[in-house]
Amino acid sequence: MEVKETVREKYGQAALRVATGGSSCCGASAAVDGCCDPITSNLYDASQTGDLPDAAVKASLGCGNPTALAELKPGEIVLDLGSGGGIDVLLSARRVGPAGKAYGLDMTDEMLALARENQRRAGVENVEFLKGEIENIPLPDNSVDVIISNCVINLSADKSRVFHEAFRVLKPGGRFAVSDVVTRGEVPSEVRQSMLLWVGCIAGALDEYGYIGRLTKAGFDMIDVEPTRVYNIEDARRFLTGEGIDVDAIAPQVEGKFMSAFVRAVKPSGKECCGPACCS
Ligand SMILES: C[S@@+](CC[C@H](N)C(=O)[O-])C[C@H]1O[C@@H](n2cnc3c(N)ncnc32)[C@H](O)[C@@H]1O
Repeated sequence: MEVKETVREKYGQAALRVATGGSSCCGASAAVDGCCDPITSNLYDASQTGDLPDAAVKASLGCGNPTALAELKPGEIVLDLGSGGGIDVLLSARRVGPAGKAYGLDMTDEMLALARENQRRAGVENVEFLKGEIENIPLPDNSVDVIISNCVINLSADKSRVFHEAFRVLKPGGRFAVSDVVTRGEVPSEVRQSMLLWVGCIAGALDEYGYIGRLTKAGFDMIDVEPTRVYNIEDARRFLTGEGIDVDAIAPQVEGKFMSAFVRAVKPSGKECCGPACCS
């Protein structure tokens, strides 16, 4: 509960900053040259965001671009876990078209208010923002074609429960297509602590094999973790300077160990091929 309350407070403040014309930057640092940090900056093409309300773009706190990778099709039902200011929900709504629907789920009232205002400004109708927690998704079993999420699952203190819930609400054959921060290889705990200062808004990142293991346990198939941005020591320096940490000293233990990744998985349809003889 403590983690959840801290997260809720932090993102409530971020939403209010955007609603009053500021930036939503996460982490300890303020925006430099209008650019938040190496994790959240430059995730979307101008061609994607051109039609979106400015506040939806400014509220972007993700670490990837799941709608660009999720291969959404017209008519599909999409659910965004931790939808924030709604950028990925609005982009999904465009892709699934009027025959489809995009849900955003978020627990923070201020983010939901911002997202609903962004929806109103964008004039998009096939969108609904739901209040709730990603550990208890307020949708029925087998009701969603695609689950997306952008830098949220790492914030949950009960990731196994999130994967279980994602599996429950996906239709058979449904896709899990999520951007998140993951770690690779051994990260000494004191460095991890320092890096959590750096990542500020993405504390709790799972190791890539931990991610795969938990998804497998939830029942998912065809799991793949594709790095989209690997962070180096210069990225870390930007955050750690002024935090009393000797960045050069920890460089070898940091370089290449934190990355944003696109995580794909599929809920088995029950009609999978098991070999040439049983695939009819
Ligand atoms: C890092 S921001 C990402 C927002 C959005 N996905 C984006 O790309 O801009 C995290 C969002 O997830 C929400 N969130 C975090 N933990 C949550 C939880 N357990 N249940 C529901 N929402 C959660 C926060 O309120 C916040 O809006």
